[in-house]
Amino acid sequence: MSKKIFSGVQPSGNLHLGNYIGAIKNFVDLQNQEGNQCIYCVVDLHAITLRQDPKVLKNNIRETTATFLASGIDPKKSIIFNQSLVRAHAEGSWILGCIARTGWLNRMTQFKEKAGKDKEKASVGLYIYPILMTADILLYDATHVPVGEDQKQHLELSRDIAQKFNSDFNVANFLRVPEPLIQKNFSRIMSLKDGTKKMSKSDPSDLSRINLTDTNDQILNKIKKAKTDGNLMPSEKIELKKRPEVENLLSIYSSLKNQNIEKSIDEFSGKNFSDFKDNLAETVVDKISPISKEIINLLKNEDYIDKILEEGAEKADAQATNKINEIKKIIGF
Ligand code: AMP
Ligand code: TRP
Repeated sequence: MSKKIFSGVQPSGNLHLGNYIGAIKNFVDLQNQEGNQCIYCVVDLHAITLRQDPKVLKNNIRETTATFLASGIDPKKSIIFNQSLVRAHAEGSWILGCIARTGWLNRMTQFKEKAGKDKEKASVGLYIYPILMTADILLYDATHVPVGEDQKQHLELSRDIAQKFNSDFNVANFLRVPEPLIQKNFSRIMSLKDGTKKMSKSDPSDLSRINLTDTNDQILNKIKKAKTDGNLMPSEKIELKKRPEVENLLSIYSSLKNQNIEKSIDEFSGKNFSDFKDNLAETVVDKISPISKEIINLLKNEDYIDKILEEGAEKADAQATNKINEIKKIIGF
């Protein structure tokens, strides 16, 4: 079945190997499957739910776009744009906010985590962020939304909002109820320093992650210093349960080699760790170095990136404006 895919990534800088394996690599695979129509959005309206420096934000929008392009998202095949260029997102978010119930938003665990102890000081935008995400998806009649596990609850909310709208206004199937696409394997890449913590751009230690803009030497050094244990490489998958760092490094290797973890275990079974790390470093460099070079190259030409975003926004706008006009008619505007 052909799919209409929509996904978004926040332009908050420092995209890393976890983002690549858990999200962007999958975006590219979906784009290259016959019949799929994909829309990939740099969600700058979402980014301002937390305070942003305007200059840094502008750079990050371009850097995230460059990362999409350098990773293989092709503007001839997919629509690439930034959210703030298409007004229907903000408008749709308001209307859908009048459909969603506060009780539904109050259950969102990501808000609780991001707002921390002092919820009263969090922006209202951060609280209603999942409604904006809902508008993003529903405006394009997306059938499938590739996201990480952490976004599953937001997807469920968007399904509830679509269903309530359809039933409140008696327009069965008007808003398409989207399906989440959550990667089964390698959906959580962990920190190189602690196999129980997610690899994250907010980790204070740069050694915990491989940034997509790292040089080859930085990558080699980080893999050399990645935490392991003193044992030899495992020969059975079951051993990984007690060795989270080893599991994580084998997952990174397997994902980049497009093979299952069992095959990687067989490849290195009983060998010294240093043998494996040499191979892993080579694999990561092979994959990431062309991407990082291309990101740096693309960023030299800001006009080109801006043009891709504008052209993408024009295509997105045609679809989203059409949908928001229908929505307005239905609600009586
Ligand atoms: P974020 O940078 O947290 O907004 O995430 C952007 C995308 O990358 C989302 O789809 C996340 O689920 C995914 N992602 C972020 N960190 C990781 C990680 N450590 N492992 C796998 N996927 C991740
Ligand atoms: N909230 C998502 C994240 O932080 C990003 C996002 C915004 C998104 N709008 C979306 C993802 C629509 C999928 C579909 O990762």
